[in-house]
Amino acid sequence: MGRSYCGELRRKDLGREVSVYGWVDGVRQYGKLNFVDLRDCTGKVQIVFDEKIRKEGLGREVVLFVRGEVVERKSKNPNLKTGDVEIKAMDYKILNKTKNMPFYPQDITRVREETRLRYRYLDLRREEMQDTFRTRDKILSLIREFFHKKKFVEIETPTLAKSTPEGARDFLVPSRLEKCNFYALPQSPQIYKQVLMVAGFDKYFQIVKCFRDEDLRANRQPEFTQVDLELSFTTPEEVMLLTEELFKVLWKAFKKKEIKEKFPVFSYIEALKRFGTDSPDLRIPFEISESREGIYVEYTIGKEEEKRLLEELRLMKDIQKNFSVLRVGGKTRFLFREKNEDNYKTLGVVRERIAKLENLVKEDEFRFCWVKEFPMFEFNKDEKRWQTTHHPFTKIKGTWSEKKHKEAIAMSYDIVLNGEELGGGSIRNHDPEEQKRILRFLGLSEKEISKKFGFLLNALEHGAPPHGGIALGLDRIVMFLTNKKNIRDVIAFPKTKKAQGLLEGSPSEIDKKQLKDLGLDCKHKK
Ligand code: AMO
Repeated sequence: MGRSYCGELRRKDLGREVSVYGWVDGVRQYGKLNFVDLRDCTGKVQIVFDEKIRKEGLGREVVLFVRGEVVERKSKNPNLKTGDVEIKAMDYKILNKTKNMPFYPQDITRVREETRLRYRYLDLRREEMQDTFRTRDKILSLIREFFHKKKFVEIETPTLAKSTPEGARDFLVPSRLEKCNFYALPQSPQIYKQVLMVAGFDKYFQIVKCFRDEDLRANRQPEFTQVDLELSFTTPEEVMLLTEELFKVLWKAFKKKEIKEKFPVFSYIEALKRFGTDSPDLRIPFEISESREGIYVEYTIGKEEEKRLLEELRLMKDIQKNFSVLRVGGKTRFLFREKNEDNYKTLGVVRERIAKLENLVKEDEFRFCWVKEFPMFEFNKDEKRWQTTHHPFTKIKGTWSEKKHKEAIAMSYDIVLNGEELGGGSIRNHDPEEQKRILRFLGLSEKEISKKFGFLLNALEHGAPPHGGIALGLDRIVMFLTNKKNIRDVIAFPKTKKAQGLLEGSPSEIDKKQLKDLGLDCKHKK
């Protein structure tokens, strides 16, 4: 007799003798009868043990084998798919017992996240988590199917790689064979995918892990997954249309929402002026306005809310200068007399805060948009140098000059959903001279350029086609599709805010011998 699955038993199985395997989800006693809910990867079914059967050691989460007959359940449970039937146990065996359970999956509301992460396998046993990761699997499979249909080829790129600048710190791996040399874990496969275009693959994609050693703000992980793609002989419009189509397919499959309209496109400047941010939430029903007096947002809010908002603003920045709060026709108006980037951004924050205070956005409304044509360069105030807003491989629109670098516009585009950046990409420089000019402008010497990027520049000199692409943050996409508010809830083994893996206890010290083999010495021992 083969194995049956708990969650799949129905009326049609009445009278059958079945063997099921799983975990005890709950135990109840009514008179002389004992009921056990047995749970496996498909769901739960009720088992009934009569007094003839011993039932020692049947605690929660015990691993159990049961052989029995499928019979009609007396008190049906409409909340359970298997609620019409139950298994009358004829035989059972405890396959494994439990000891010192830190928590039971059923009691999760009382458990701290740290404990959940330390005993992640118990947390993952929960139905909600099982559903999330089965959905994540389906999303991955649909994305692969989508790109394969469009003649993209999935190619794996190295994890032991060379540093690529995506603006974060690298995770480094020391080389044993070449002492004092290091691999960098890729912040993205950016340079490899460009080289694959030079190699003639035309359409590449990859679902790939990226590594960035950065401060973990919301929705960020040091190790995360990108849906990465690149196309030869392409345009921003083609990449954007393709990405849009993918999102429409995903939202139809997993949200049952048919998105018909084209996603609106804003230039960076337009987004800044209308929403005060490069990742606008279009669900918020008002924008930044302009009058002769200056720029402002206004909305009907209570005195209390107004006070709270002002306090927050004062904490954020020095807003004394050219800022005022007015009452206009029953609305509160937050006004800056001077129109500059900083003030637009502050009004962007005010707009979002008002939306939150007044509950203006719906969770199940999805408003995508594109923000494109960012300034190519931005000034890093801390390091007092110019850097690229996207990455240095992005092509500049039209012609540009070093003198007028502030006017250089990148051929880049970000896709945004409800105020969250889901992806970003650009058209690249396929002209090696142009690429070198940008690197030089960023302050790299000829020596540094050839040391760090020589291999890319060489490739560009050997017949590189024009190309461009985009990378999408898969974890964030899964968050939206599974209604999760926390990126850690869609990653099976996520890291904490301190970048620790609590299950396995990483990062951890290594043996003296390992250090010696690598030619390393650790000074900062605790
Ligand atoms: P970018 O750096 O914009 O582009 O990354 C693309 C998308 O990846 C997601 N993302 C993250 N998700 C979780 N945790 C993180 N730490 C994290 N960092 C980024 C975001 C982001 O929009 N090589 C370029 C793409 C290209 O030009 O083709 C790149 O990596 O959703």
